[in-house]
Amino acid sequence: MPEATGTTASTTIRWDRDDAGIVTLTFDDPDQSANTMNAAFQSSLTAVADRLEAEKDEVRGVIMTSAKKTFFAGGDLRLLIRARPENAREVFDSGMRIKRDLRRIETLGVPVVAAVNGAALGGGLEIALACHHRIALDVRGSKIGCPEATLGLLPAGGGVTRTVRLLGITDALLNVLLQGRQYHPAQAKEIGLVHEVVRTPEEMFAAARAFIDANPSSQQPWDVEGYTIPGGTPAHPKFAENLPAFPANLKKQTGGAPYPAQRNIVAAAVEGAQVDFETAQVIEARYFVELACGQISTNMIQAFFFDLQAVNAGRSRPDGVAERKVGKVAVLGAGMMGAGIAYACARAGIDVVLKDVSREAAEKGKAYSARLLEKALARGRTTQEKRDALLARITPTADPRDVAGCDAVIEAVFEDPALKHQVFQEIQHLVAPDALLCSNTSTLPITGLAEGVERQRDFIGLHFFSPVDKMPLVEIVKGRRTGDEALARAFDLVRQIRKTPIVVNDSRGFFTSRVIGHFLNEGVALLAEGVDPATVEQAAAQAGYPAKVLSLMDELTLTLPRRIRDETRQALRAEGKDLPPHPADTVLDRMVEEFGRTGRSGGAGFYDYDENGRRAGLWPGLREHFTKEGGTGIPFADMKERMLFAEALDTVRLLEEGVLTTVADANIGSLMGIGFPAWTGGVLQYINGYEGGLPGFVARARELGERYGERFAVPALLEEKAAKGETFTD
Ligand code: NAI
Repeated sequence: MPEATGTTASTTIRWDRDDAGIVTLTFDDPDQSANTMNAAFQSSLTAVADRLEAEKDEVRGVIMTSAKKTFFAGGDLRLLIRARPENAREVFDSGMRIKRDLRRIETLGVPVVAAVNGAALGGGLEIALACHHRIALDVRGSKIGCPEATLGLLPAGGGVTRTVRLLGITDALLNVLLQGRQYHPAQAKEIGLVHEVVRTPEEMFAAARAFIDANPSSQQPWDVEGYTIPGGTPAHPKFAENLPAFPANLKKQTGGAPYPAQRNIVAAAVEGAQVDFETAQVIEARYFVELACGQISTNMIQAFFFDLQAVNAGRSRPDGVAERKVGKVAVLGAGMMGAGIAYACARAGIDVVLKDVSREAAEKGKAYSARLLEKALARGRTTQEKRDALLARITPTADPRDVAGCDAVIEAVFEDPALKHQVFQEIQHLVAPDALLCSNTSTLPITGLAEGVERQRDFIGLHFFSPVDKMPLVEIVKGRRTGDEALARAFDLVRQIRKTPIVVNDSRGFFTSRVIGHFLNEGVALLAEGVDPATVEQAAAQAGYPAKVLSLMDELTLTLPRRIRDETRQALRAEGKDLPPHPADTVLDRMVEEFGRTGRSGGAGFYDYDENGRRAGLWPGLREHFTKEGGTGIPFADMKERMLFAEALDTVRLLEEGVLTTVADANIGSLMGIGFPAWTGGVLQYINGYEGGLPGFVARARELGERYGERFAVPALLEEKAAKGETFTD
């Protein structure tokens, strides 16, 4: 780091000028763990731009870097979540101020280098893009990209304007802007976002100085006379050829669901490419303000920032239990889930004993990890050394005695309570005397399963999602006799394997399996009422669900919901209650019993499948047997909202029943576990953000109830909150 010869320019940006006239600007917000574009930063940036202009003759070059672990975190989401149409002008002005200050620095006439020492996401990358040269330090967690689209926003610190000029409209949209992808430094270099990747801070600063020495009068490419956008502007014949495909691509990406960010990003990029730089910045700002002041960005920021933070901070983890790490885990059952769980644990450095009924079956489970690692190797995401180490951690076996010394057990055998009891009995005295005992059951109540072990307080549900290596969520299920210590340890284990934990109390289907069942049933109910199957699928897509409803049902099998339904009915009858019939029931029964169509794994379901198991189109028999000729008269808006409401209303019931205890768990669980549409910000935030707020939601639920049945009845808790003017918050 150069020696300081100047004075501090401001509170969040440190100014150091060395004897050679190189100014190092170090971002270092004293009040936060990461730098953001908050008010303090904005005034600091203006002060820095003023000073650079004033002392320009003594400045030979500028290096921007950060004193934090990350380079720069981006926009201040605490401010942005409060943006409303009433303060649109203020949002516009503050955005324009940052743009103007960065532009002043960019056009100063001296070389400006970004020494990107860690993650540069959103505003961080935008600052770097305003520099003439970008050097990225390759350290753990250094991700580069513009994830604004994933928050319902667009990069408005010049991000759209500059990426379009740097990469061309097509690449800027597809690689950077529309999906908000985050890149490792090497990948960022490959797509042209950074110029150099280095391994040490020393190398980074040396490279920055070398650039300044070699390029005393740097300019951005777009400021050089005669510069044209790579691939052409929209007026260019080559680009014009591609332009008509954009709306279709966009629709494909969003399924026609309400994702206004993507629409505004395309508009800002295309319109901005046809005008000068300054006008493009204003266009970008206008499209940003429209998004920032709308409900969808509020929803998405709430979920992905505030709720996720609350979940990860361990709000549902009991206080006062010391953190413990697992050293060796026994995974019982090496089928689809067990194999995935073994991989996730081994990846986190935990030794795994992977047990199945035969050595062969256990080996097959281990081979799954080998396959994932081959793919990662081929893509340069791991090294041979790491691959070997990970595989060496997994010991396949059929011998129960091999679980000796394990301090945690995760059971993933068939969904059969008697078998689950049996496998726990077999190992409970062989593992460590205080080992944590977890079951990955997706439907069976944990309290009942716990009765099969002696230490019921150490027994807990750890519900993973398939495919385990990709799905970020784990639903922790606390049985009636589960102790706080076990809950805390389960929470720590989930964090140890770098997944996101939500915590729920025991109930049949817990939160996720129960709520997703309502989505599936509602889709099938529409079919039962005579709606054309393609329209049912379209309704799910346009509501924003990542998977269409009938195709998802095929994946999960049509036999599973029937089994759950029958078991639930039996259990309720034992308590003197009953399960009311659902309009989906007859379709499911006929599909399985009359037509022998059980889903993808059975080779035929709502869809036909070819000999390779690939979906070949909706089964024509659906129209023949179920579709009402001449239409049903059910409005399309009702079809979409029936699925969303069915899930949301049952989530409120789960809160009432005490199965869910926090709003953050519900929102994050619904987004990360069961594909509730991202634009809603999660299942309870959907209710908060509904037109007319909670009273608006209640009125609409009543309307649906009158038209479609009791299952849309409004739970008392929702009614109460609506009457009191409250929302669902923790
Ligand atoms: P699977 O059928 O792929 O695997 C079950 C494995 O258990 C088989 O390899 C079988 O040989 C083994 N097994 C049977 N008896 C055993 C014994 N006595 N000792 C050791 N291993 C034994 O099933 P899958 O899909 O992996 O499901 C396992 C559990 O995970 C079930 O409880 C299921 O409900 C749950 N689950 C499944 C999800 C899914 O998407 N498939 C999602 C979340 C949970």
